[in-house]
Amino acid sequence: SIKNVILSGGVGSRLWPLSRKQNPKQYLEMFQGNSLFNLTINRNKKFVDSLIVISNSENFKIGEKWLKNLDLPVLSITESLPRNTAAAIALACFAADEDDVLLVTPSDHIIDDDDVYEIAIKNAISFAEQGFIATFGINPIRPETGYGYIEYEGDDVLRFREKPNRETAIEFVKSGRFMWNSGMFCFKAKTMLDELFLYDHEIFVSAKNAWENKTENAAIKPDFMKLIPSKSIDYAVMERSKKIKMVRSDFFWSDLGAFDSLYDYLIRNNYPVDENGNMYIGDGEKFVQFIGLENSILVDTKDAILVLNKENSQDVKYIYETLEKEK
Ligand code: GDD
Ligand code: MG
Repeated sequence: SIKNVILSGGVGSRLWPLSRKQNPKQYLEMFQGNSLFNLTINRNKKFVDSLIVISNSENFKIGEKWLKNLDLPVLSITESLPRNTAAAIALACFAADEDDVLLVTPSDHIIDDDDVYEIAIKNAISFAEQGFIATFGINPIRPETGYGYIEYEGDDVLRFREKPNRETAIEFVKSGRFMWNSGMFCFKAKTMLDELFLYDHEIFVSAKNAWENKTENAAIKPDFMKLIPSKSIDYAVMERSKKIKMVRSDFFWSDLGAFDSLYDYLIRNNYPVDENGNMYIGDGEKFVQFIGLENSILVDTKDAILVLNKENSQDVKYIYETLEKEK
């Protein structure tokens, strides 16, 4: 059978103060009353026969309302500690049957749900059935250092490089031989577990142990969770595996990682900016005026205001870290 594995462990720290620990970005009802989490489920449910949602227990509670009235079986795995995506994906693989095809999708991306997307997913499922790990390659439009890069020739992947430094990213984009990794993957549970066994034995063993000692409600106990090394699947497997195929993906994709990509997304959807490119994001109840500023964003929430230059969008995560420490 085919299962959609939804990764929902992140907190979306670069979208503070919209995104909060108590309400991370994937649950914000910012998209005509929908959340990214809900949009992810709706986009993928037609391709699969069940869901595995994997999140921490706080996120699980927030996400529950979107899972209630689904006509698909859902397994919710809760992680007592965040251990990054290799752990989450390994746990999902142990929860599935060996031959299940898993379509792994982050819960916090915005994607156009159209024919192009459908073709890409079907290609990926076909690669998965043949024993490959399929990735989705997105045409890179800037030297983003927060993404993985795929060097490709047709469907073949020559090299996978996670989060290169700025110099390398510039070189990659200029060469025209690379695509961005979208962060979605498709494979048979067995294929991924074989690769983990080979390339990160410690994650394989500790995740297996954690899964076998889960509670009745598929909660992973902290004593076992903490023994799993914290690493992303990109470093643990994707940079090393020789079984990767890339599906070229021309659908609209954004990970809404930071305010610059949210800004671009909103503009694409005719959200207003002033003549100098300044944007106000808030409840819309105040009169707001920008003077002498360009490309700045004002984020207005009930208890916090953020003013930033769009260029500095990545720095928002430091505020979040500072606030975390002060708590
Ligand atoms: N359950 C669970 N547990 N989910 C997690 C955890 C965890 O410990 N850590 C992260 N996630 C979820 C996040 O919520 C997100 O939906 C997804 O897994 C990816 O994690 P990120 O932390 O957002 O990864 P990234 O953005 O740095 O990098 C990945 O995505 C890029 C594209 O957006 C990589 O795959 C890159 O190669 C890729 O380009
Ligand atoms: Mg991300």
